[in-house]
Amino acid sequence: MRAPLLIALVLCSTLTACRGGESDKPPVHFIPNMDTQEKGKAYRRDTTGLFADGRMMRAPVEGTVAIGHLDEDDTLHEGLGTDGGTTQKFPVSIAFDDAAVKEHGKLRYDIYCATCHGVLGDGKGPTALKGGLMVPPPSFHDPRLKGLLVGKIYAAIKNGVNNGNMPSYAAQIPVEDRWKIIAYVRQLQGVPPESGEGAVVVPAATVASAEHGALLYKAKGCVACHTLDGTRTVGPTWKGAFGRKEALASGGEVTVDDAYLKESILKPMEKVVAGYPPAMPTLPLTDIEVDSLILFIKAQQ
Ligand code: HEC
Ligand code: HEC
Repeated sequence: MRAPLLIALVLCSTLTACRGGESDKPPVHFIPNMDTQEKGKAYRRDTTGLFADGRMMRAPVEGTVAIGHLDEDDTLHEGLGTDGGTTQKFPVSIAFDDAAVKEHGKLRYDIYCATCHGVLGDGKGPTALKGGLMVPPPSFHDPRLKGLLVGKIYAAIKNGVNNGNMPSYAAQIPVEDRWKIIAYVRQLQGVPPESGEGAVVVPAATVASAEHGALLYKAKGCVACHTLDGTRTVGPTWKGAFGRKEALASGGEVTVDDAYLKESILKPMEKVVAGYPPAMPTLPLTDIEVDSLILFIKAQQ
């Protein structure tokens, strides 16, 4: 009875004795396998002086593309940029007027677009009619959409519209199918496939002007939510906007002046007008574009 207990006690005390004491010497290591070599660790400082930037982890070589991140557009079409650029042409490899392409485009359209934009492209899809969307999907028969460049329609499918008012369908729809859908949208619209009808191409400007603002109003899509004739749509009308007093959703009031207009365009969520949804997108605009839009809004009295 005594012996096993004693053995256990001795074992315990010897085993625990191995722990705890600190030492500068490397631990006893029977098969070292290069375990204790000097090495750089990720996310640590470089203490060896090997790398000029003092970081142990190296940045990928310039131009490296991670798997799954290749910008597939380049394989079919150049010059699309992130917003569709000024692209008016279909990629050469796609015969857009081929009946089979349109048939295929129609199938994809009916699957992915019709729920909102409607089977006829009139903006009256079931999701839109249920009224759950903050911003209603536009009709493709609207003159502005008839004038959209194909690159812009492409960008709408790939990136979505206005920060997610319409979501991106890039994950569901491969590049070639996007173009086929566009061919079908053009057929629905009954306009020439490539340039559309009265497409607005805004020439670059070096000074701000109301005229430039008028073009941007259409080209940047402000027209989808702001009217010039006093009608209320998604956003407040611009008719008589300048100088008007506006109640804010957060309480209080503002007078629409230059500074307020600028803030409303650049930081739409800062002051939201009472009675309207917070649906105004943040759009990438240059200083000249913002100033031109302000001049244009001021001219709508
Ligand atoms: C979930 C609903 C929904 C679906 C599905 C949908 N859209 Fe949209 N779409 C919208 C809404 C909402 C807008 C308006 C967004 C805005 O103006 O802020 C819009 C706008 C657009 C525009 C106008 C872009 C612009 O520059 O003004 C195009 C083009 C478009 N959609 C194409 C498509 C195509 C093609 C498909 C199918 C691949 C599709 N949409 C699927 C809701 C949808
Ligand atoms: C998807 C719809 C939508 C689009 C597109 C849109 N806006 Fe708006 N905008 C709104 C809504 C909704 C409001 C009101 C709520 C708020 O104040 O954010 C608004 C408010 C504004 C206001 C403040 C107006 C006031 O009476 O107080 C300005 C200025 C404005 N938008 C400028 C623009 C410009 C410039 C563009 C185009 C570059 C644009 N918006 C595009 C929806 C939109």
